[in-house]
Amino acid sequence: MQDWDLLLTDASIATMSSGGAAYGIIEDAALAVVDGQIAWLGAMADLPALHARETVSIDGRWLTPALIDCHTHLVFAGNRAAEFEQRLKGATYEEISRNGGGIMATVSATRAADASTLAGQTASRLQLLMAEGCATIEIKSGYGLDMQTEIRMLEVARRVAASCGISVRTTFLGAHAVPVEFCGKADAYIDLVCEEMLPAIHESQLADAVDAYCEPIAFSTEQVGRVFQKASSLGLPVKLHADQLSDSGGAELAASFNALSADHLEYTHFNGVKALAKAGTVAVLLPGAFLTLGETKLPPVNQLRDESVPIAIATDCNPGTSPVCSIRTTMALATSLFRLTPEECLAGVTRNAARALGLNDRGRLEVGMRADIAAWDIGHPQELSYWIGTNELTDLYVAGRRPGQ
Ligand code: NIG
Ligand code: FE
Repeated sequence: MQDWDLLLTDASIATMSSGGAAYGIIEDAALAVVDGQIAWLGAMADLPALHARETVSIDGRWLTPALIDCHTHLVFAGNRAAEFEQRLKGATYEEISRNGGGIMATVSATRAADASTLAGQTASRLQLLMAEGCATIEIKSGYGLDMQTEIRMLEVARRVAASCGISVRTTFLGAHAVPVEFCGKADAYIDLVCEEMLPAIHESQLADAVDAYCEPIAFSTEQVGRVFQKASSLGLPVKLHADQLSDSGGAELAASFNALSADHLEYTHFNGVKALAKAGTVAVLLPGAFLTLGETKLPPVNQLRDESVPIAIATDCNPGTSPVCSIRTTMALATSLFRLTPEECLAGVTRNAARALGLNDRGRLEVGMRADIAAWDIGHPQELSYWIGTNELTDLYVAGRRPGQ
């Protein structure tokens, strides 16, 4: 008889599988792991009598899929608290950006930081997310805007995640802003992104996907289209910062390239929602940025629901618009700001977040999936989007192991 590596007993399990009961709940349950994957789960009463190398009683607590933060800018140097204060005195994000602050301020700081400084600051933020149950995180470049710094950012992202023992998906965001060297020459910068940066990034295998910022203060749909064309020709999946500050046709553009996700979407119109639905593109909502920018235009949540567009939520952790290093706070914000239900929030950081990253081996607790599991001292999984500032995580398993063990 085959041994199990790990057996978790006496648990309530929220599988987050779609289509079944709310949260996919199995009460009085057990879960077994072999080779980092879920080999069995079900009611304790049906537990086959197999030997397990390690058995852990969950003592009636809850197991959920480990959480996934599918949109972050975790690698950056410095912060923009001064700009935050300026905004609260009346300056807008766009004004600060047009005056050389905003993303460009972080670009200067990040270019000046060496890899070990960047790694140290990134690791602190990553550990906060892990401490709240994240086992997979997406990290973008985009504060280098030159080959050397973009590559440094992606390398740091991979290295820090490996040393912390969690999964990372890296995203090349070269088309985040026009760097000072290309001031007034956005098209020439896009040429550089397409002709030099993307081929080098592809060759180095440092990026799992390609993102861009489609907005009047950043790049047009035509410019982003060129980046996406090139990324697609290299076999790299795409995603987009779309319709955050204006309806720039971002959702339709993302859908036309079968993007993994279209993110932000505050200003997306119904045609954009329809296009996302048709393409199977995930809508990633970012309540931390909405809160920090004091936005009032809500993303079209009801239309996304009506059209069955999968909704994910993420921290968007970045120094400018979302200085948020908490996935749990993000879940709570998504309920209060966007009126997502606690179940939608949990799906948004598990099943749908996995899909937003093109990962079909996690985000649900099912046989054959990776054993990325979070254990919580709660009475019901709806509490994960309800409490603010608490942390009920008691254990995190990444591919069946506690990170660091
Ligand atoms: O996701 N919108 C563009 N990118 C970031 C902001 C980056 C910054 O301001 O540093 C975002 O909101
Ligand atoms: Fe972002």
